[in-house]
Amino acid sequence: MKSAFQNMIVLLTLAGSALAISNPIYVISNAEVPSLFRPGLSPVGLQRATQCLPQLFSTLNIGKIITCPQSEDSCFETLATTQPIADALGLPIDTSCGADENTSDNCVSDLTKKFAKNSTQSILIVWPSLFRPGLSPIGEQRVAQCLPQLFSTLDIGKIISCPRNDESQVCFETLATAQPIADALGLPIDTTCGADENTSDDCISGLTTKFAKSSTQAILIVWEFSEVHTLLEESLDLDTDPADAIDGIHYDVFTTVIKGKITQVTSQNCTDIDGIAPGTDKSKRRRSVAGAGEKRRRRERKSRSRQL
Ligand SMILES: *[C@@H]1O[C@H](CO)[C@@H](O)[C@H](O)[C@H]1NC(C)=O
Ligand SMILES: *[C@@H]1O[C@H](CO)[C@@H](O)[C@H](O)[C@H]1NC(C)=O
Ligand SMILES: *[C@@H]1O[C@H](CO)[C@@H](O)[C@H](O)[C@H]1NC(C)=O
Ligand SMILES: *[C@@H]1O[C@H](CO)[C@@H](O)[C@H](O)[C@H]1NC(C)=O
Repeated sequence: MKSAFQNMIVLLTLAGSALAISNPIYVISNAEVPSLFRPGLSPVGLQRATQCLPQLFSTLNIGKIITCPQSEDSCFETLATTQPIADALGLPIDTSCGADENTSDNCVSDLTKKFAKNSTQSILIVWPSLFRPGLSPIGEQRVAQCLPQLFSTLDIGKIISCPRNDESQVCFETLATAQPIADALGLPIDTTCGADENTSDDCISGLTTKFAKSSTQAILIVWEFSEVHTLLEESLDLDTDPADAIDGIHYDVFTTVIKGKITQVTSQNCTDIDGIAPGTDKSKRRRSVAGAGEKRRRRERKSRSRQL
């Protein structure tokens, strides 16, 4: 498996595009951010930004760094990600292009063309969004070192997860995530319900209702990352307004449902992985909680992840 940072770097193909400059262009996204709309970078994001990226780019002859300025609705933590690289390379950061509807589509390509007139050096662009499947090294750490312990105290009596489906491209990592918990608790994993179009909406609620007839123990559902919101809303028929923090980009969100209501949406608080890393919260305000922009991005991500 490729490491996460290798996965994040995309070398743009320049041949035949409007951007026919010979300077290499490297594109990365912002590093990991905390869930639940909290500002700053997560501990893992800070580690990436300070311990990995400056070194990674130090050998790539970067001459220009472009990122977008943080606004209420976009470009969260691109600067926190970029600053350590810029400091290490002794370069300024050009934030003259935004990532919102007021910025012309040509803004970034105009900047790169202007730079290319005068230099053959590489250009680094730090921009939000890039999605790849698979468990990352951090995902493996979460699964092995945090989750079994977290659920060991919660009196779990049943574990439900969805089986990998190659055709609909869902549930690739759900079993890898559920298995260590199941092993620690000595429980089987029920995978009779899928997360694809062939599974009835009632499948999960059927399993939970059946289990509840003979037990008062808790039920743990480990579900496809991009489908959790759909599971809550359509399969469990819940009012998902309290669960807007399930944004389809964070892996640590943990939802509790009691008597047909979402009572808590929290972080798993895995040590050294989740939360806000010290010194990275430079924003003036909290991220807008589930604004229209967030909902729109979630929908876009969902349709993108379906196309993977
Ligand atoms: C775009 O510009 C308009 C008019 O200046 C402003 O009201 C709006 O907030 C801007 N949008 C963003 C995302 O900055
Ligand atoms: C061109 O490069 C020189 C030397 O690197 C620099 O001083 C100058 O400002 C650059 N001009 C432009 C338009 O970027
Ligand atoms: C759904 O069922 C049909 C008919 O059995 C099958 O051809 C198709 O591959 C299934 N779709 C998925 C995503 O498994
Ligand atoms: C995570 O931390 C928050 C804030 O301290 C707390 O409210 C929440 O219950 C914690 N989550 C878990 C799963 O312990």
